[in-house]
Amino acid sequence: MPASASLEADGLVAGYGEVVALHGVSISAAAGAITAVLGANGAGKTTLLRAVSGLIRPRRGRVLLGGEQVAIRSPEQMARTGVAHVPEGQAVIAELTVEENLRVGMMARPGRRSRSDRAAALDQAYQRFRPLAQRRRKLAATLSGGERQMLVIARALTSQPRVLLLDEPSLGLAPRVMAQVMDLVLQLSRENGLTIVLVEQNARSALAVADHGVVLNLGRVVASADAEALAADVALRHHYLGF
Ligand SMILES: Nc1ncnc2c1ncn2[C@@H]1O[C@H](COP(=O)(O)OP(=O)(O)OP(=O)(O)O)[C@@H](O)[C@H]1O
Ligand SMILES: [Mg+2]
Repeated sequence: MPASASLEADGLVAGYGEVVALHGVSISAAAGAITAVLGANGAGKTTLLRAVSGLIRPRRGRVLLGGEQVAIRSPEQMARTGVAHVPEGQAVIAELTVEENLRVGMMARPGRRSRSDRAAALDQAYQRFRPLAQRRRKLAATLSGGERQMLVIARALTSQPRVLLLDEPSLGLAPRVMAQVMDLVLQLSRENGLTIVLVEQNARSALAVADHGVVLNLGRVVASADAEALAADVALRHHYLGF
């Protein structure tokens, strides 16, 4: 995997038509670390990821990758730059097999042009995600929620990103499966040194694996600190984090 990079958002203003969802949001995600982005419904977490990955165009602000400003033109170009976005909802293509889902993911992404390159990427995915290897010829429709989440993450990793943006990977999963997904996120950071921005409503689980946490409320950053410090801040937890 290529060297991971830090990611910074600086003063992002973004929204939808009349709705301003981010009022000048700045975050800094250190290279190789897990940065949790927390906050209630409608806080702007998803919008932040969309703005960083080129799905929506910020009205103001900058995005820096490895300290260098990136001109955000499109999601494809951001993927080429090394930012992989896994949207919420565990969206796999149900009528294709696990392997076909991975192959489609690679087609949509750059840097995996030759046949042997693609074979190597599949090998890597199957080594890391053993349950997917066992189910490679099964339709994605037959996967459990946890396996689907694994598949969308595996698909994002085939592009060899420098930064992985995860939107609510634990949503809708049973507690045991949720813990497995969090373990996987931790592994990707600790073993592969990947930079991860982890958006979660489940603040308790996210802070248990994160190095740093950022709390959004109504499109503004209301706290940014070490994960441990946030988890220890009772007032903040009650106000914004729901635990
Ligand atoms: N497609 C859209 N069109 C109009 N407004 C939107 C759209 N998507 C989000 N919004 C609004 O933008 C604000 C931020 O929403 P966003 O989805 O970023 O929040 P979130 O923190 O991801 O919430 P959740 O925890 O529910 O996923 C909200 O006020 C929301 O209603
Ligand atoms: Mg969201």
